[in-house]
Amino acid sequence: MTEAPEPAPGRPRKPALLTRVQVVEVGPRDGLQNERTALTVEIRAAFIEALLDAGLTVVEAGAFVSAKWVPQMADSAAVLRRVKRDGVRLPVLVPNRRGYEDALAAGATEISVFTAASESFNQKNINASIEDSFARFALFVPEAKAAGLRVRGYVSTCFGCPYEGVVDAKKAVEVCERLFAQVGCDEISVGDTIGVGVPTQVHEVIGRLKRVVPIEKIAVHFHDTRGTALANVLAALGEGVRIVDSAAGGTGGCPYAPGAAGNLATEDLVYMLHGMGIATGVDLHKLVVASRGLQAHLGRELPSRYLQAAP
Ligand code: HMG
Ligand code: MG
Repeated sequence: MTEAPEPAPGRPRKPALLTRVQVVEVGPRDGLQNERTALTVEIRAAFIEALLDAGLTVVEAGAFVSAKWVPQMADSAAVLRRVKRDGVRLPVLVPNRRGYEDALAAGATEISVFTAASESFNQKNINASIEDSFARFALFVPEAKAAGLRVRGYVSTCFGCPYEGVVDAKKAVEVCERLFAQVGCDEISVGDTIGVGVPTQVHEVIGRLKRVVPIEKIAVHFHDTRGTALANVLAALGEGVRIVDSAAGGTGGCPYAPGAAGNLATEDLVYMLHGMGIATGVDLHKLVVASRGLQAHLGRELPSRYLQAAP
């Protein structure tokens, strides 16, 4: 049997059949980084274990950023060292070479770098311009790749910026493409940092992006500030995206993105996908148990709708 020919250059690939979605659980990092209560290493590690027990196979375990900037992520090395599990991926956020070296020393096998589609947000978040963030990546990403690490790339504010407002889809796509083609990231996570995006924007950004980055390398990362995250996921799935970020319980936000509320809740995402006959490998009941445990430690009701409705 002859294989189907490659699509002509510049033409989007046909999306894979929608039978399975890879959930990237970002709760232990994006979920906790904005919480008032900083959780201990033990509690964070136990939360990650509970998420892995629930069948999640990619769990972002922490961030090797400055503890002065994000105290909630202090001691991520100790968290990573505590979680011993084969056959799963535990990426950690890394802003610069120092973070990379610390992550490597703690045994990380996957790192996530991050930049943004808007200058003002990047400046507030990592004290660097977009251009400077690429210069920082050049100081360690080639080495990380050569050492066999997987590198994920986040682009924040692809659908709107807390400081600049509207973000041009072309600019978002340009930064994403650069992170893929120039930096060499294995996967690009397209972020709606403050949860302002709507499905038409998702079609526009992902529709453009998949002409320059293979669709199977594109993930989406929606915050649910204005209740549009699930609708945005559907739009992304329609474009052929099969990797979706979410946070158990719907925790989250970025300390440097005023107005950013929780991430899309993993329970809500998994409930919708399973209901549509799309597999995720996640046991929803066990996930609820993990989120309820977190809820008790944080001492507040978490925003996930499924979690609130679950018996
Ligand atoms: P800086 O102040 O410009 O850097 O911060 P610096 O080089 O001058 O260093 C300042 C201090 O930090 C020094 O210590 C360094 O040693 C230390 P001091 O001499 O003052 O004692 N330092 C570090 N410490 C630990 N780990 C490191 C590190 N690097 C320097 N890696 C820096 C620059 C990038 C460090 C800082 O801005 C930072 O840590 N920013 C992180 C902000 C952050 O984590 N934001 C949230 C994550 S992004 C996000 O949530 C969006 C996402 O979810 C997608 C979406 O929703 O859009 C991913
Ligand atoms: Mg985020």
